Amino acid sequence: MDSKVVLVTGAAKRIGASIARTFHANGYRVLVHARSSKTEATALSSELNKIKKNSAGTFYADFNSHHETQELSVAALEHFGRIDVLINNASTFYPSPLFEASADDWSSLFNSNVKAAFFLSQALAPELTKRKGSIINIVDAHADKPLRNHVLYNMAKAALKSMTKTLALEMAPHVRVNGISPGAILWPEALEQKFDEKIDQQKAEICASIPMKRIGNAKDISNLAYFFAESGRYITGQVIKVDGGRSLG
Ligand SMILES: NC(=O)c1ccc[n+]([C@@H]2O[C@H](COP(=O)([O-])OP(=O)(O)OC[C@H]3O[C@@H](n4cnc5c(N)ncnc54)[C@H](OP(=O)(O)O)[C@@H]3O)[C@@H](O)[C@H]2O)c1
Repeated sequence: MDSKVVLVTGAAKRIGASIARTFHANGYRVLVHARSSKTEATALSSELNKIKKNSAGTFYADFNSHHETQELSVAALEHFGRIDVLINNASTFYPSPLFEASADDWSSLFNSNVKAAFFLSQALAPELTKRKGSIINIVDAHADKPLRNHVLYNMAKAALKSMTKTLALEMAPHVRVNGISPGAILWPEALEQKFDEKIDQQKAEICASIPMKRIGNAKDISNLAYFFAESGRYITGQVIKVDGGRSLG
């Protein structure tokens, strides 16, 4: 009953689900957060609870609501009575060209990518301090090398990177705060299901531009997240790119 607990935001599917499964396979109990992917989140929790009884719980919150974000921190902590690791993975991603971006786009992209990560970290700081735990923020290689037409997303991820370093300073020595900046890992969901020659060509061009000549996979991110939580005991304030060398040039 004393096993460690991880809260993963945006964990119903894709990279978040991989992080949840990786921690669970290594003995953690898992708090699965989702917004709209309720079927997938429930299925993931059931899968984990079948492997080990009472080892996962599911929580819903839309990070566009500050109230729901705060309620999540309370309900998640109540569930198992402890949280050792917070993984801020949830993210909204879509273009926001300069002359089309609205105040609503600003809110949507900043709320999910950085505001919720900040207020969850703030709310859980006492608990993470008590557990000598850690925070892992899933950033993006585009925090450093901007993606054209995505100014608000790039800015939000750059703020998340800065938050990682600042909180690492402020929460030391008890809580370590690190980040992972993925490159191309999974194609955006909207593109995954599309069979279109032009999109296939764009995907091929992206792969060709990556020194490792392929995109990554979710395990590349979840393995590093687990390393940060359990092995990197003297590492804090670091944001590591996992991009197959794409940022090199
Ligand atoms: N995929 C890549 O190649 C890649 C590349 C660079 C960086 N990243 C970063 O890696 C992380 C995971 O990537 P991914 O592609 O697996 O993410 P994703 O599928 O695009 O999004 C993860 C989850 O975020 C949740 N979310 C979005 N807006 C939310 C909101 N307003 N409130 C609460 N939850 C919200 C969604 O939950 P629901 O489905 O439940 O609504 C979604 O399932 C993200 O931080 C992303 O920026 C990924």
